[in-house]
Amino acid sequence: MKIVLSALLALFLLGCSEDKATTNMADTQSVVAEKTELVKSTVDEAAKAAEIVVKEATKEAETTAVEAQNVVQEVKATAEETIKENVSGADLFKACASCHGQKGEKPALGKSQIITGWSAAKVAAALHGYKDGTYGAAMKSVMKGQVSKLNDAQIQVLSDYISTL
Ligand code: HEC
Repeated sequence: MKIVLSALLALFLLGCSEDKATTNMADTQSVVAEKTELVKSTVDEAAKAAEIVVKEATKEAETTAVEAQNVVQEVKATAEETIKENVSGADLFKACASCHGQKGEKPALGKSQIITGWSAAKVAAALHGYKDGTYGAAMKSVMKGQVSKLNDAQIQVLSDYISTL
C-alpha cells in the first residue's frame, strides 16, 4: 500500500512538474516570439534610418560635387580673363611702342617724358587727362589721337601693363 501511495505521489508530482514545464515552455516561446518581433522591428527601423542617412549623404555629395564644379568653372573663367587682360595689355602697347619704345624707354618724338617705371595710377591719370584734354604739353594732341579710342577698362589694362615694363 505504501508503495502504491508513493508511486501515486510520484506520478502526481511528475504530472505537476510536467505541467509546469509545459507552461514554462509556452511562456518561453512567447517571450522568444516577442523578442524576435522586437529585434525584427528594430532591424527594420535601423535599415530605414540607414537608408535615409545614405540618401541624404548622397544628396549632399551631389550638391558638393556641383558646387565644386561651379568653383572650377569660376576659376577657369577668372584665369581666362586674366590671360586675356595680359594679352590685351601687351597687345594694346604695340600701338605705343613705335614712339615710346618697346619698354617705354624712349622720349616719344623726342618730346615726352620717359614712361618706364611709371606707376599704373600715374599712367592712367596721364591717359585719362590726354583723353579729356586736362593733361599734356605741347604735343598733347598727338596723344589725344592715341587714347581717344580707348575705353576705361583698356586704359586700366594698358596702365597696369606699362607699370610692369
Ligand atoms: C606718334 C607717337 C606716339 C604714340 C604712338 C604714342 N605716344 Fe604717348 N606720347 C607721345 C608724345 C609726343 C607725348 C608727349 C605729349 C605732350 O606733349 O604732352 C606722349 C606722352 C605720353 C605719356 C605721358 C608722358 C608725358 O610726357 O607726360 C604717356 C603716359 C603716354 N604717352 C602713353 C602712351 C600710350 C599708352 C600709347 C599707346 C596707346 C602712346 N603713348 C602712344 C607720342 C606718342
